[in-house]
Amino acid sequence: MHSVWRGPRALASLAVAAGLFSLAGPSAAAAAPPSVAATPPMGWNSWNHFAAKIDDATVRAQADAMVSSGMRDAGYRYINIDDTWEGTRDAAGVIHSNAKFPDMKALADYVHAKGLKLGIYSSPGPKTCAGYEGSEGHEAQDAKTYADWGIDYLKYDLCSLGDRMKATGSLDKAQDIELVAYRKMDAAISATGRPMVYSLCQYGVAQVWRWGGSVGGNLWRTTGDITDRFSRMTQIGFGQAGLAKYAKPGQWNDPDMLEVGNGGMSPIEYRTHMSLWALLAAPLLAGNDLSKMTPDTLAILTNREVIAIDQDKAGRQGDRVHAEGPLEVWAKPLAGGGKAVGLFNLSDQPSYVEVSYADLGLKAPVKTRDVWAAKDLGKLTSYRALVVGHGVVVLRLG
Ligand code: GLA
Repeated sequence: MHSVWRGPRALASLAVAAGLFSLAGPSAAAAAPPSVAATPPMGWNSWNHFAAKIDDATVRAQADAMVSSGMRDAGYRYINIDDTWEGTRDAAGVIHSNAKFPDMKALADYVHAKGLKLGIYSSPGPKTCAGYEGSEGHEAQDAKTYADWGIDYLKYDLCSLGDRMKATGSLDKAQDIELVAYRKMDAAISATGRPMVYSLCQYGVAQVWRWGGSVGGNLWRTTGDITDRFSRMTQIGFGQAGLAKYAKPGQWNDPDMLEVGNGGMSPIEYRTHMSLWALLAAPLLAGNDLSKMTPDTLAILTNREVIAIDQDKAGRQGDRVHAEGPLEVWAKPLAGGGKAVGLFNLSDQPSYVEVSYADLGLKAPVKTRDVWAAKDLGKLTSYRALVVGHGVVVLRLG
């Protein structure tokens, strides 16, 4: 699918070549109410595992599995259909789903009856990244269609609009096109009166974290696409350093969907992936086949204490405390003054990783718990863990 469209890379190099776009400052007034995404959205998305091989029956099976596996009870809510559901427009311009999705409203009813929510996908351009119908020129109509179907979440993926932006040859004009397009859909969603999570996908170009909230975004992708490889996952995850200040309730940095359970990483590496995303207060959108999960996959995705770190009410994103070669310490402030800490070992050999709590601003001895081991360690002022290669020890302090 990615060969269809080369926008993100082309856009990124345009931005790099000419310095950054001029940016609109964040505007609290224009931001969507935090209620739809007061904590980072949790759910599932079809793309990472199924890509274009997604249809009504498969989505229903994922909803069934989200409930029967216990994921819903662990906090997962959204069942998000990504690209390739789109059919054609009728004479009045109304979008219809294609033959893979015979009745979107019935599908939404099915998902809702399970206590879950349904998400969908489109593009502000004429075509989606997989070459399907986009929403350009039909924003109000499409938002109304989504609301009529009972949609609760929209991922809005730049795709072909990026070609138009690039063709202007001007960073300012390109940025205007993007801002107008994202605002247009935000207004269209608001006009329906139906609350929807609004997810911007434009691959982190032009420091979207600075203005994503001002165009109504509840989350915005900060990078290009993730793949099911340790090297890519860590490149994206650890590349989030410095972005913590842009995240808050209702507005989240999105380092892309989870690959946990898709087979390209070991259970230890998937645990690192899940831990890092939780420390980043990232949306937790599982990207695997929920109907065929190993016990390891399910245990990683549903670890209550790790999820609690991600979903902490303070809504603060974690950041790097220090790095020494392949050893990194990250910390996330928690409500009530505690901290979640990740001791990461990116090498493939076991290594000790140490944190002094003074480096986290904690002076007195603090109650320390090893989260994955589910073990209280007593009141400490520092901790030194032996961490397996590609692994992590997550601590909860306070
Ligand atoms: C882009 C997005 C992906 C996915 C595909 C669908 O690559 O970044 O997350 O939505 O498009 O075509």
